[in-house]
Amino acid sequence: MPPTRIILDTDPGADDALTILLMLASPEIKLEAITTTHGNVTIDKTTRNALAVLEFLNASRIPVAKGCSLPLVKPPHQAKGEAVHGSSGMGRTNLPEPTSKVVDTHAVDYLIERFLAEPNELTLFAVGPLTNVALAIRKEPRFAQVVKELVIMGGAVRSGGNMSPLAEFNIYEDPHAAHIVFNSGIPITLIPLDVTYKCLLTSADVDRLNKIDSPVAKFVRDVTADYMAFYLKYEGFAGCALHDPLTVAAIIAPELLSLEEHYVDVDISGGVSTGKTYADFMKVAKKPANMKVALDVRGREFVELFIERMETLCRSRL
Ligand code: BDR
Ligand code: CA
Repeated sequence: MPPTRIILDTDPGADDALTILLMLASPEIKLEAITTTHGNVTIDKTTRNALAVLEFLNASRIPVAKGCSLPLVKPPHQAKGEAVHGSSGMGRTNLPEPTSKVVDTHAVDYLIERFLAEPNELTLFAVGPLTNVALAIRKEPRFAQVVKELVIMGGAVRSGGNMSPLAEFNIYEDPHAAHIVFNSGIPITLIPLDVTYKCLLTSADVDRLNKIDSPVAKFVRDVTADYMAFYLKYEGFAGCALHDPLTVAAIIAPELLSLEEHYVDVDISGGVSTGKTYADFMKVAKKPANMKVALDVRGREFVELFIERMETLCRSRL
């Protein structure tokens, strides 16, 4: 099978960076471009981080397009992202300033151009707030018809939230964008907190990886350091959830995910449940399913697969 051709929309972010590493370590995937969004930290920082991570991995050939700096309607909450991912978004890493530059095209236009140029050939992954994707849908009505598949990290369907008691960060950060995307007709696979919280990378896993003396192993340790400190302080757990990397399982290990087809929407009413994703399990709304949503995962198997891929990446750079 030829590799799945992917464009990644992302807000690096510690687990976003790990997603880039995992994609580049996975022969089943060809990462063709990155578009950046506001989210965990400012758009300037997420864009710098994307460029720096690609340069670190000798992958600067992959183009990066800079995207939206703000959500569609709501004010941003980047302070929360900085508390989780460190003020740069990259934990305690110290990657050099990237020498590569972004492409001249805005991420929204870049997405439209790339997907229209090759209808139903490219898969979109979105692991940050959905602002760029929503604007591409609104700016070019054909966009929704030419995306082969959209894999999203976002939402909390049966589980509680991590940004409000009910809502997950990426969706809470731009619920109006999520509403547009969910109702766009694009074939969606949703990877919510319900499953990502079952994929916990422990500090012991990171120590194990660091038995290999490699800049990649050190990067994984340093990029997750603040992230893990946050989990320890607020959740009493010595590790962190592999939220964004779990999206990659949709391509490299789909058998680990239990996917169900449902109609899923997001609350944009402005009340206490704003940003909450909810599935119509009982089909009371009588609307056709608009996505596949992961409701269970063989979490530890995914974490082991992630570590194996990181080990391969370490060895390829020794
Ligand atoms: C999501 O929020 C961000 O902090 C992570 O990068 C991930 O995309 C998890 O809720
Ligand atoms: Ca993210």
